[in-house]
Amino acid sequence: MLVTDNQRIMSKKKDINKRPFDEETLAKLDIFEDYAEAWIPTFIMARYDEIHIFDFFAGSGYDSKNVPGSPIRILQQIRKFIRHIFEKGTKIVFHVNEYEEDKFIELRSACEVYLNEYPEVRRAISVKYYCRDFAELFDEIYPFIKKFPSLVYLDQYGVKFLSQKYITALENTDTTDFLYFVSSSHFLRFGNTQEFQRHFNFDMDYAKKEPYKYIHRNLIKQMQASLSETSMLKLYPFSIKKGNNIHGIIFGAKNIRAIDKFLEIAWRRAPLNGDANFDIDEEATIHQLDIFGNRRLTKKEVFAQKLEAFVKERKKVTNKDVFNFTLSLGHARQHASEVIINLKKQQQVDFAGRSPKIDFKYIKQDLDIVEIKWI
Ligand SMILES: C[S@@+](CC[C@H](N)C(=O)[O-])C[C@H]1O[C@@H](n2cnc3c(N)ncnc32)[C@H](O)[C@@H]1O
Repeated sequence: MLVTDNQRIMSKKKDINKRPFDEETLAKLDIFEDYAEAWIPTFIMARYDEIHIFDFFAGSGYDSKNVPGSPIRILQQIRKFIRHIFEKGTKIVFHVNEYEEDKFIELRSACEVYLNEYPEVRRAISVKYYCRDFAELFDEIYPFIKKFPSLVYLDQYGVKFLSQKYITALENTDTTDFLYFVSSSHFLRFGNTQEFQRHFNFDMDYAKKEPYKYIHRNLIKQMQASLSETSMLKLYPFSIKKGNNIHGIIFGAKNIRAIDKFLEIAWRRAPLNGDANFDIDEEATIHQLDIFGNRRLTKKEVFAQKLEAFVKERKKVTNKDVFNFTLSLGHARQHASEVIINLKKQQQVDFAGRSPKIDFKYIKQDLDIVEIKWI
């Protein structure tokens, strides 16, 4: 069967809005919503004139038990900052799309009911409704994504729209953050088919070298590697296990502040590993010793070792170096602060003051640069 047929059948068979959202869908929606909560005020407080949010696969608004889906959650987050929106005068344009007509009618009605209930939100934003195929709509409204600070949600079924074309288009923008949803384990089933390869050049042999549970991480590694070495776009995975399938979020952004916010959310939602809704590295049993009396290290312990080696090797680093190093390894800045403070207690490093100030607010425009020295 061709992948396209499979996709079509799947999208008919499983309509997530016709049932209660399952735990995995909620895990995804919570992260989508958390990111809107972090993203919206950043641009409002920086007094941008106009910002755009795109929900390209919006569904019908709620699940069968009236639990809000992505478009309503985005409206709720806009409402949270309504006072600031009016104070700073930022124009917010919210683009919502759903290509199935009956779902689109429900979607528009759900958003309108919300906007009638909260007329201040209606006054604060401009909502553009579309009932279009993503493939057509994307090309048409791409100029807005390129022109304005944009937050783009691509909550597709399956993998169909994860193609090089869209990644390249998003990469060619300066201030776009995006959250893709992708059924990564489909790559193992269909990744070698011509249809798939036409969209994304997936290296099946490379993927099979790692355990199946790492397929989403592996996909992101492949995607990152497919970008040019000088690309500023950074991609981060969040794996979501559902039964035997591995799905996941791909977060993409160029700006370190955006990456910082996403990683903070990811580690808050998944305190064990920061990139999965399950114990992907089997850390629950990590305290058990192996036959040689050793135990494996947790992801955070491995990070602590790497950060210590980084400072030791360089002898002198700044809070900005540590911040960038931490983000590049997919860790939250709080982890780095803990490690550096601990190293100071052990008299292995020294820095002035009580805090190493590993935080965007200190390093932006080199406002408060702290030197951290290996003793
Ligand atoms: C995973 S659901 C999105 C759920 C939604 N984000 C929510 O929170 O309820 C994917 C949606 O995309 C729609 N869809 C599928 N193919 C599409 C396409 N080519 N263009 C636009 N929408 C599409 C489906 O009808 C479905 O409602």
